[in-house]
Amino acid sequence: MTEMTPVTEATAATAPAKKAVPDAQTVTEVRHWTDRLFSFRCTRPASLRFRSGEFVMIGLMQTDPKSGKEKPLLRAYTIASPAWDEELEFYSIQVPDGPLTSKLQHIKPGDEIILRPKPVGTLVHDALLPGKRLWFFATGTGFAPFASLLREPQTYEDYDEVIITHTCREAAELHYGAELIEGLKTDELLNEVIGEGFWKKIKYYPTTTREESPKMGRITDLMRSGEAFRDLGVEPINPETDRAMICGNLAFNLELKAMLEEYGLEEGANSDPKQYVVEKAFLD
Ligand code: A2P
Repeated sequence: MTEMTPVTEATAATAPAKKAVPDAQTVTEVRHWTDRLFSFRCTRPASLRFRSGEFVMIGLMQTDPKSGKEKPLLRAYTIASPAWDEELEFYSIQVPDGPLTSKLQHIKPGDEIILRPKPVGTLVHDALLPGKRLWFFATGTGFAPFASLLREPQTYEDYDEVIITHTCREAAELHYGAELIEGLKTDELLNEVIGEGFWKKIKYYPTTTREESPKMGRITDLMRSGEAFRDLGVEPINPETDRAMICGNLAFNLELKAMLEEYGLEEGANSDPKQYVVEKAFLD
């Protein structure tokens, strides 16, 4: 029998019990896509239910410089994995001098993060009226909710066609999305659950603005000129049949929102579903 050493004041002082992190989840995988972009997976709280496209608050403990106490530092992060996945996935940028992301980029498998299990968001199927064609418009890390929704069976049950556009500055910033979409073709589970060849409903339109790639330009300009519709071989946007979700930087969201309104689409919400929804890719 192993003798237990009684915890005396002296031993307790030299080895204080590690304070439990509130709402802790364990990181299981980290991938770096560029020097600033990374994705990671972590365990999922058993109690967490969410709809594909929603976000949660995640973060790390940090020492408050004034009080010296440990405090959670949290930011809103869209869940990039679908609602059925037993783990959670996130896709992040490292913002220069960003208080959370500059620390988060160093996480490794086995580390703990804080995850508040209260999902919210408007990029959900419930906020859209039924339609035939679903457009996902993303810039940068705004791809995250679509990484979830592209792996969500309801996306293909509800729509005949799914068009995803992704505009980034440089080609390497497209890799996370491109690999994910390519992976759908050979994903045995999804092909079995959603239906063999479900991925044929997807039309993917990646563009870059500051580095040479097969398609250059902002999606807004490419739509205005009609080039995007010609390249995709599809009809321009029609409020009767088209539904859309927007997630990118603020200027992009506003410009595209105005364009969709010109096409005759109206903005929906969870409580009032309509033709399109928009959400900012959170960065700071
Ligand atoms: P650009 O390089 O022409 O600014 P960011 O990294 O700044 O968040 O931008 C991500 C992508 O979104 C970039 O390719 C950027 O193009 C593009 N973008 C920025 N503003 C708009 C906008 N108003 N409409 C369309 N695309 C935009």
